[in-house]
Amino acid sequence: MAENNQRAGNPAQWSSRFAFIMAAVGSAVGLGNIWKFPYITGENGGGAFVLVYLACIAVIGLPIMVAEVMLGRRGGKSPIGTMAMVAGSEGRSRGWAGVGIMATLTAFIILSFYSVIAGWTMPYILAAVGGEFSGIAAEESGALFGGLLASPGQLLLWHSVFMGLTVLVSAGGVRHGLERAVTKLMPALFVLLLILVGYAMTTGHFGEAIGFLFRPDFSALTAEAVLVALGHAFFTLSLASGAMMAYGAYLKKDVSIARTSVVVAFMDTGVALLAGLAIFPIVFANGLEPGAGPGLIFVTLPVAFGQMPGSSFFATLFFVLLLFAAWSSSISMLESLVSYLNEKGVSRVKAAVGGGLVAWLVGITTVLSLNEWAGFTPLGMFERFEGKTLFDLYDYLTANIMMPLGALLTALFVGWKMKPAHSAAELGSWHRVWYPVVRYLSPIALLIVFYFNLK
Ligand code: PFF
Repeated sequence: MAENNQRAGNPAQWSSRFAFIMAAVGSAVGLGNIWKFPYITGENGGGAFVLVYLACIAVIGLPIMVAEVMLGRRGGKSPIGTMAMVAGSEGRSRGWAGVGIMATLTAFIILSFYSVIAGWTMPYILAAVGGEFSGIAAEESGALFGGLLASPGQLLLWHSVFMGLTVLVSAGGVRHGLERAVTKLMPALFVLLLILVGYAMTTGHFGEAIGFLFRPDFSALTAEAVLVALGHAFFTLSLASGAMMAYGAYLKKDVSIARTSVVVAFMDTGVALLAGLAIFPIVFANGLEPGAGPGLIFVTLPVAFGQMPGSSFFATLFFVLLLFAAWSSSISMLESLVSYLNEKGVSRVKAAVGGGLVAWLVGITTVLSLNEWAGFTPLGMFERFEGKTLFDLYDYLTANIMMPLGALLTALFVGWKMKPAHSAAELGSWHRVWYPVVRYLSPIALLIVFYFNLK
């Protein structure tokens, strides 16, 4: 391995294009695909929402991903350092580092609540091993989930374990172990989702689910749903949070950024759609509510597993893989901050432990939002934030405000402030397609969505 390519204090470059793809897919595929996509699709009425989400991935998400990886490779530093350095070398204000700062902060806020949700997978693994899902009815499954949420102690325990796992890998350098683990686990998760879709086909409600997911009813689409779809396109692709920029910094010069990004976006979207196809037939077959919210998969999937032969085995495997998928995402969330502090002379271990500790503390407010503070809605006086707990607000602030704003600034930077010859040198022949999209189409689309939401 190219250990001698190592920059001072930084992990070495990815050993191959495949390794980068797997790390980027590891970051992209996570709770966003399997937990969040199904539940927000359920909450926002299905088909039309899915279509808008797919359009957001193609027209905004993918071009921004290319921009971020390109900037990362060009700057070769942490997202903050990269933005300052590339802006400086383009003769622009180093204030563009602000884009990196906002991205680092975004990833940090996400990590604080992501860790709490990822923690849920662990009691589910234990329940699956103990055979608790065997023959379970939808109502019992709902009660099981409700019991978990009602227990701050349990949530805090698993949140702590998950944050510890994240810090552990981050402290050791992301390449260490991550590359090898992710190349095996992502394909396994994919196969398991296919098995679940296979099961979902036997429920007799597969057609209904296809209709729900793919038959758009635009009359049900609100401006806010469009914003949620847009925000989710960024969330699911790990954009505007420094992850892709940080990983791009470890990418070798000879790898095609555009081709690689297309592969990552396809795989990520594929996993989300498979998750939808696995979950909604079960929802309809059991008379569950598609708009049930964040508990959707934790209530529906045990019911499905419980009816399968080998229920305990498949359920265990599924939640273990979901845990790993979340883990490889959370590691990338910490990377912006850790790589930045590392540049400033703080050791990776100290940076990871310090960053993890603060995110863990903030995460406690999410733990409490699910029970003791469920009625605490600090911005409830504004119609838009009515009924939103602290956890809901973190999610809203990051996905619906900070990420679209960060993406807009990134598009404006690469489309208007950076010399096209410089981005062309990184992107080769793909530049001709990419450039007009990030220069005009992506920013205009972003501004339109903002406009209709502020109106
Ligand atoms: N893309 C991850 C998911 O879909 O679960 C979430 C995520 C990872 C967001 C890394 C932001 C980030 F920096």
